[in-house]
Amino acid sequence: MADYDIRTLPAGDDLTEELAGWRRACALGFLGPEDDDGHLELWNRLRVADAMTLVGAYPEHPLPGLPPQVPVATYGAFTKTLNTGGHLEPIHLITDVTVRPTHRRRGLLRAMMTADLREAAAAGLPLAALTASEATIYGRFGFASATFRQAIELDTRRTGLPAPAASRVEIVDAGSAAPLLREAFGRFHAASRGSIDRPAYYDLHLTGRWDGQTRAPNPGVRVAVHYADDDRPDGHLVYTIDEKAATAVVRDLVAADPAVELALWHFVASIDLVRTVTCRSLGPASPLRWALADSRALTTTGCADFIWLRVLDVVRALEVRGWDAAGTVEFAVTDPLGHAAGSWRLDIGDDGAQVTPIASADLTISERALAAMYLGATDARVLAASGLITGPAGRVAELGRLFRTDIPAHCLTGF
Ligand SMILES: CC(C)(COP(=O)(O)OP(=O)(O)OC[C@H]1O[C@@H](n2cnc3c(N)ncnc32)[C@H](O)[C@@H]1OP(=O)(O)O)[C@@H](O)C(=O)NCCC(=O)NCCS
Repeated sequence: MADYDIRTLPAGDDLTEELAGWRRACALGFLGPEDDDGHLELWNRLRVADAMTLVGAYPEHPLPGLPPQVPVATYGAFTKTLNTGGHLEPIHLITDVTVRPTHRRRGLLRAMMTADLREAAAAGLPLAALTASEATIYGRFGFASATFRQAIELDTRRTGLPAPAASRVEIVDAGSAAPLLREAFGRFHAASRGSIDRPAYYDLHLTGRWDGQTRAPNPGVRVAVHYADDDRPDGHLVYTIDEKAATAVVRDLVAADPAVELALWHFVASIDLVRTVTCRSLGPASPLRWALADSRALTTTGCADFIWLRVLDVVRALEVRGWDAAGTVEFAVTDPLGHAAGSWRLDIGDDGAQVTPIASADLTISERALAAMYLGATDARVLAASGLITGPAGRVAELGRLFRTDIPAHCLTGF
């Protein structure tokens, strides 16, 4: 891009001035405070642990201002796995996207993102994902909301939740709980369509060793672990207590199956002196509401998109997806960036899906509609009504039937 040198920073382990400058730019873009030396080193350790790729944009002819090693735009990416419905597939995760207010709306985000998606596709990654600060930014790059979560409030006096047959929940030492939490999450991740493996930051955040918001340790973090019959963790609850409000604030509730989830809800709703439990990430298939004696003990206080997905390779993405129906459908995908463009026949049988390029099809899906259907977030008929799919009604209905998932996708990983 003219006027800017957009470059990837060297990937070494050392905290260089260039890396410190990049981090400073990021803080500026997200309107946050700048790191002191301790935070910078901590950030650098996490960057190395997650093998982050960092891109910065540097003006060719800078005006006097911040030091030249502070870029005017930042962009980060790393690879984890996504549960595509019974299979864990590497996915390209995008984060730390900022453009300095004095350089905004000159195409810097577009330049960084189009180059990065091109490189991720060339590297063979079939899917990309991000979480969005604003819903208006990423649709133009082919991303669509693919998982949702609810914020809830639970009145503990009215739950009437049945006690699990045998209590398998124990409170553990928060500071040293990381291995247990990782193990429980691993079980959830392997079992849950839509789950994305967690960056290293979670080990610190969930154990109270470091709180991203207060930028300090949080000695108020409590951890309860649910143990499976093999005495290994298969779920956990991380929470803090707001004593004045008699409220338990759930930071993380991870469960390998619905019975484990209910056992954890029963535990937190039974803590003496706690009148209310709040949680920001109840999954769409949570059994909680239906297990309550008084279902109005649960109030939904918010519902928001969470993970935004982008398909980079149609064949690979669909062939590694888990399918809950069988059949054949032909469709064309439109994609202004080109990655998903083409016409395909999708054959789903007992052994999974096969995707074959074809010359043309009378059902047309936008790349955003494909992303929205990929984890089963919505139905093809809804997308057709929204104008993102066009074609004969019967074909649209068949497409919807094939992409429908028995259990809605759920992701508990922010990045
Ligand atoms: C969001 C942000 C990265 C955009 O950067 P930018 O360099 O100004 O974006 P570009 O100039 O490349 O714009 C690319 C396109 O997105 C649009 N766009 C960019 N930011 C937008 C926003 N906040 N809302 C709606 N549209 C937006 C532009 O209009 C442009 O559209 P077009 O290409 O179709 O004409 C920048 O405003 C920013 O740093 N914001 C604060 C931090 C933030 O929210 N980061 C995102 C984290 S998920």
